[in-house]
Amino acid sequence: MTKIAVIGPGAIGSTIAAWLMQNASSDVVIAARSPLSDIEVRTPEQVLRVAPHVITNVREAKPVDWVLVTTKTYDANAAATWFEGFCDTQTVVAILQNGVEHVERFESFLPRTSILPVMVDVPAERAAPGRVSQRRNGRMVVPEGSVGSRFVELFAHTPIDVSQTVDFKSEVWRKLCLNAAGALSAIVLKPAIIARHDGVAKIMESIIRECTAVGRAEGALLDESLAQTIIAGYRGTPDSINSIHADRLAGRQMEIDARNGVIVRLGRKHGIATPISEMVVALLEASG
Ligand SMILES: NC(=O)c1ccc[n+]([C@@H]2O[C@H](COP(=O)([O-])OP(=O)(O)OC[C@H]3O[C@@H](n4cnc5c(N)ncnc54)[C@H](OP(=O)(O)O)[C@@H]3O)[C@@H](O)[C@H]2O)c1
Repeated sequence: MTKIAVIGPGAIGSTIAAWLMQNASSDVVIAARSPLSDIEVRTPEQVLRVAPHVITNVREAKPVDWVLVTTKTYDANAAATWFEGFCDTQTVVAILQNGVEHVERFESFLPRTSILPVMVDVPAERAAPGRVSQRRNGRMVVPEGSVGSRFVELFAHTPIDVSQTVDFKSEVWRKLCLNAAGALSAIVLKPAIIARHDGVAKIMESIIRECTAVGRAEGALLDESLAQTIIAGYRGTPDSINSIHADRLAGRQMEIDARNGVIVRLGRKHGIATPISEMVVALLEASG
């Protein structure tokens, strides 16, 4: 049996836990902030219904082989309080979150070698506790290596495309460019269709160019054509509501720092001006 703890049964955590529980050799426990009885995930091809073992107190946690952290980035410190119950020297802690600082967010709690950063591109929405729609099968990417290949194995029975890469840094910076531009939807409270406005597309392009410049200074390999690809993607999915927009609509805290603030912070470190990202951060902060 592979023992797995999922910390944070929201949109991603519920989806991932429900898929893992389809494998009889996975023993899944969910660490929740709010009690939860069952999970129903509407995936593109089927409905998964599971009744997982849910705990809400770290005193109930026992050491596991894998911890999957699926809280929002701003709940990292609270998520880490579970580690003393779940982690022993063999436990791998996979961080399924957005942004480019998966390891940095948790390195004060764990040895870096225990942390596996995961790029998650699995679109999922939570309508109510334990009620989730997974809009696409999606994909996840991890750094190449023995731990990465064990992570891929965990999901071998699922339709989620899980793969390894030798260049994880570029992978997460590409995703950050997409997410950073999506902030404009959260500001104007309109879905991706705003990218069809030429002025908005120009602002998106500026955000992506700032993100690209900072990402390259951090060592990511980012294509010149990335901005045009991302804007074309937004224009082609006019109704899509990205997660920071959904968070603002629902009155939830937004991942402003992990998705836009990080460009400003790391830009300063490298002496790269990021005026448009600074403006985006200020507007999001003021609107939240
Ligand atoms: N949703 C997507 O489509 C998507 C796609 C790609 C990447 N991501 C990234 O994946 C991460 C998770 O996003 P999400 O959309 O799944 O967020 P979410 O729906 O808000 O779920 C977060 C969950 O974490 C729980 N939580 C918070 N603090 C906790 C604690 N101390 N202990 C246990 N549980 C705790 C929350 O509890 P409550 O139930 O009490 O709120 C909630 O169930 C984010 O970094 C996001 O950017 C999301």
